[in-house]
Amino acid sequence: MSGRFIVVEGPEGAGKSTLVPELESRLRHAGRRALAVKEPGGTPLGEAVRRLVLHPAGEVVPAAELFLMLVARADLVARELRPRLAEGWVILSDRFDLSTMAYQVAGRGLPREAVAAANALATGGLEPDLTLVLDIPAGVGEARQRAAGKALDRLEQEDPAFHDRVREAYLRAAGPGVVHLDASRPPAAVLDAAWRQVQALLDR
Ligand SMILES: Nc1ncnc2c1ncn2[C@@H]1O[C@H](COP(=O)(O)OP(=O)(O)OP(=O)(O)O)[C@@H](O)[C@H]1O
Ligand SMILES: [Mg+2]
Repeated sequence: MSGRFIVVEGPEGAGKSTLVPELESRLRHAGRRALAVKEPGGTPLGEAVRRLVLHPAGEVVPAAELFLMLVARADLVARELRPRLAEGWVILSDRFDLSTMAYQVAGRGLPREAVAAANALATGGLEPDLTLVLDIPAGVGEARQRAAGKALDRLEQEDPAFHDRVREAYLRAAGPGVVHLDASRPPAAVLDAAWRQVQALLDR
């Protein structure tokens, strides 16, 4: 039995962390064993990395940022994702490899091919079955975070040009299993659109 690996991606404030628990809850109601995780994090090592790499006062050069993210990913994949996928669980991940391409490649300017190779080492080749990309117009995510009074982490504090490159990379994202959703709609509409994609995947 093999599970399904679903990733929710998109720029800051797009609604990933709002959507993922709702999808997890719907999956459980549908009788599926479902687990939601968040990157970086999800294991003790990953949580330690999260504190290091996102600390607002930290200074982390781009290559170090990449490797820290991949430490967390390698640990999460090996300890949590692969064993559960092998048992048939549905995994929902708040960010995964597309975040690396958006932030460390498009945002930081690290070379795409080398980053893809390093990522493949970290994941051992595990790829999402479905990546839901939450598309929002420029400024919307920041406005949502401001409205919620969110304290900004080190990446969120980057300049507008960085965030534009990240958002552009997400808009351009394409490939097997990549589906774009209009996340400027109300949460219930985004959830329904996402759930249709999840159901289509489970029915395959
Ligand atoms: N579809 C939506 N419409 C309006 N507001 C939303 C929508 N989805 C989420 N929000 C609100 O916007 C804020 C950011 O949402 P959320 O934390 O889910 O985004 P995120 O993509 O996880 O952001 P981050 O990258 O910072 O973790 C929250 O206050 C949330 O309640
Ligand atoms: Mg979030």
